[in-house]
Amino acid sequence: MDQKKLDSLFSKIWQDYCQLNPQALKIYEAFIAQGEQVINDHVAYRTLQHPRLGMKHIAKHFEKYGYKEKNEYFFKEKKLYAKHYEHPDLSQPKIFISELELNKLSSPTQKILNTLAEALPPHFDEDESHLYKGRIWDINYSEYTQLAQESEYAAWVSAFGFRSNHFTVSVNSLKKFKDLEQVNLFVKGLGFSLNSAGGEIKGTPVELLEQSSTLAGQVDVEFKEGHYKIPACYYEFARRYSLPSGLLYQGFIAKSADKIFESTNRQKISN
Ligand code: NI
Repeated sequence: MDQKKLDSLFSKIWQDYCQLNPQALKIYEAFIAQGEQVINDHVAYRTLQHPRLGMKHIAKHFEKYGYKEKNEYFFKEKKLYAKHYEHPDLSQPKIFISELELNKLSSPTQKILNTLAEALPPHFDEDESHLYKGRIWDINYSEYTQLAQESEYAAWVSAFGFRSNHFTVSVNSLKKFKDLEQVNLFVKGLGFSLNSAGGEIKGTPVELLEQSSTLAGQVDVEFKEGHYKIPACYYEFARRYSLPSGLLYQGFIAKSADKIFESTNRQKISN
């Protein structure tokens, strides 16, 4: 594995993500100003379960650096299937990839998404720049809102395309913040809102993983009809607990992730 190449890839993915999510960069810089070194627990991607766009098309670019698939997850209500990938060097971020199960959606929604997938040029995903190139199709704002009525996830993918949906700070790696509550207070103190669907902290020590996230900021996106402000990406924070073996748990909790997906919903979630 070429560490420098992998570092450079993550740096390009991060730069693209920060352009859409300036709040992540501000929070990251605030941690650095506290003397912290920010380590990523995981980087997440969203895609469609379509022969041209499934999770394999994203995973292949990480697998060449030694990443291996680990656990799988099911989100029945949101019609999502997901897997996480780990690097043999556990200091590298895990990769969490979910895909929307198109065959479970209504036929008008399937039609919009299939049209996007089928219009993709040949070899569009051959290069690893696929991981940070963004949207490469045109879409109507009316189609975006139609998708959002059935699946906020589908709408997000249609508007933003190929790029990371979120980065996640490893709270275990922070020195001055002993738990997720302290991190949440710090982030709110900077003026950012947290996703409170299901409580600010998702998961418990017994489940071996606690997570929280910001609410996605609104960004200006170009559609065929013009520019509209829509929710983009969010920043996440994860604290892991040890297994009886003493090693940190590395998996994810579907019940917690289910609520975290809602961080990009159009209507902001209130308590
Ligand atoms: Ni996540």
